[in-house]
Amino acid sequence: MDRDMTETLLERAVALIKASSYTVAFTGAGISHESGVPTFRGPDGLWSRYDPRVLEIDFFFRHPKESWAAIREMFFSADHPPEPNPAHLLLARMEAQGLLHAVITMNIDNLHHRAGSRNVIEYHGNTREAVCTLCRRRYTAREVLGMEAPPTCSCGGLIKPDFVFFGEAIPAEAYTRSVDEARRAQCLLVVGTAGVVYPAASIPHIAERAGAHIIEINPEPSSYTESITEVYLPLKAAEAAILLARHLEIDLDL
Ligand code: APR
Repeated sequence: MDRDMTETLLERAVALIKASSYTVAFTGAGISHESGVPTFRGPDGLWSRYDPRVLEIDFFFRHPKESWAAIREMFFSADHPPEPNPAHLLLARMEAQGLLHAVITMNIDNLHHRAGSRNVIEYHGNTREAVCTLCRRRYTAREVLGMEAPPTCSCGGLIKPDFVFFGEAIPAEAYTRSVDEARRAQCLLVVGTAGVVYPAASIPHIAERAGAHIIEINPEPSSYTESITEVYLPLKAAEAAILLARHLEIDLDL
């Protein structure tokens, strides 16, 4: 994309953000890619290396050791925990300046919180904690990772990470709050999601039907690009964030 085209699209996006009195971000794995977190789909995605069945709830109960071994590698094996990148920082700064009101994320990597975002809805849960599937006792991830696999509660129950597996319902509060935020949004920033995993993928559609303008940041087109996206920035999230920050006069302290 040439520079003039990029500038035109950035100006259109910024105009929509400035005209909106309630803006929400909806983020997927792509926003964390430049932090070194792999996406799920695509040539280097987790599903090219792991069988998605390890995150199916029925498989987990039948083969907890196998699931836990894959989960440790997928989400807990990095030498250094990933750091927020300019895209996470931009959303946190926009919220601090009253330009953004909520982040709905499918990610379980904690990077929105670490960047300083406050109103974050973790639609698929998070990797900070784990929970006993029998007595519901909660554990920190650190406690559980120190146990022999598969980790077992003092009550004898199997411990499961506190994120949503395939075949599980979305936690009720996260679901309801997300739908409320989507309906309220006048502008929705969709960053780094392919838009194929439901019910999460319905959020931009809910927002659009309720009248929100959809701005999308993704180097590849998603399921939204040709249908509901109004301004499509075909850029990597961090790259787009640096340009948007400049246009919004937000200092990212990079
Ligand atoms: N910046 C922005 N977007 C990017 C970047 C980047 N640097 N790199 C990749 N992307 C985009 C890809 O083009 C793709 O559209 O991020 C998207 C990643 O898609 P998925 O891997 O399918 O991730 P996501 O949409 O978040 O998946 C949803 O699927 O398995 C589940 O529960 C898991 O929450 C996850 C859900």
